[in-house]
Amino acid sequence: MDWGMKNRFSKIIRPEDGRCLMLAVDHGYFLGPTERLEDARKTIAPLLPHADSLMLTRGILRNCVPADRNIPVVLRVSGGTSIIGEDLSKETITTSIEESIKLNASCLALSIFVGSKYEHQTLASLGKLVDEGEKYGIPVLAVTAVGKEMARDARYLGLACRVAAELGAHVVKTYYCENFEQVVESCPVPLIVAGGKKLPELDALKLAYDSVKYGAAGVDMGRNIWQSDYPVAMIKAVKAIVHEDIDVKQAYSIFLKEREKAKDPKAKKALTQTAAFD
Ligand code: 5RP
Repeated sequence: MDWGMKNRFSKIIRPEDGRCLMLAVDHGYFLGPTERLEDARKTIAPLLPHADSLMLTRGILRNCVPADRNIPVVLRVSGGTSIIGEDLSKETITTSIEESIKLNASCLALSIFVGSKYEHQTLASLGKLVDEGEKYGIPVLAVTAVGKEMARDARYLGLACRVAAELGAHVVKTYYCENFEQVVESCPVPLIVAGGKKLPELDALKLAYDSVKYGAAGVDMGRNIWQSDYPVAMIKAVKAIVHEDIDVKQAYSIFLKEREKAKDPKAKKALTQTAAFD
């Protein structure tokens, strides 16, 4: 890796511990106004100080994150489909490399749909994006999107992650599954786990814990943080799992303690004030 690539990569995965807490807020790119992300500005503001990086589209970056915040950006550059459209796998590259550089992206994210109708198109896009990223020293995160008809098991996810790494992805986002360590072993680049649908907080913390225990470099979590009634408490607990190697019980007690703080009217007021970007 050249200096620029290494430097950007270190903003995504902390060199001190090889771990990362990425906050995913890119859901609207095909889902539209996802529950609790309708006003992305409001959702993102209180969470920003606790995330290592932010995964989002250029539209939400430009309009909902002030440019003076010191947060590394994982820019989603793939899309072109919606939940009501013909086929979600028909994604293409929707943001150019020049635009990504202008937006100071530390990493470029693109979904691949292994085993789906448009598998070839998305894999070819990954190859192209890696070429562009290599040219300018920007790492690429491949997201292994899983179609409804695919099993989220170690065999399928292992295949998808390996294909992504073979095509040059510098880091891969996938789902946690049984025998996850097999997925990790056969993928030569760091793996990050997506949170998935909202779970009870304790279960989401267990998911984060198991992910890092079995070899993930961290999590890229969205709904399990900002769809919680106590998102700041949740991100703090997840962060402690990722960077402080604590267990689920300890993380849940952080969540409960932070939740009590957030319920306190004085703390609530302070949180609302800091949450609003000026
Ligand atoms: C959607 C994505 C999301 O960023 C990813 O799924 C993480 O969010 P969540 O934790 O809500 O699943 O890449 O394609």
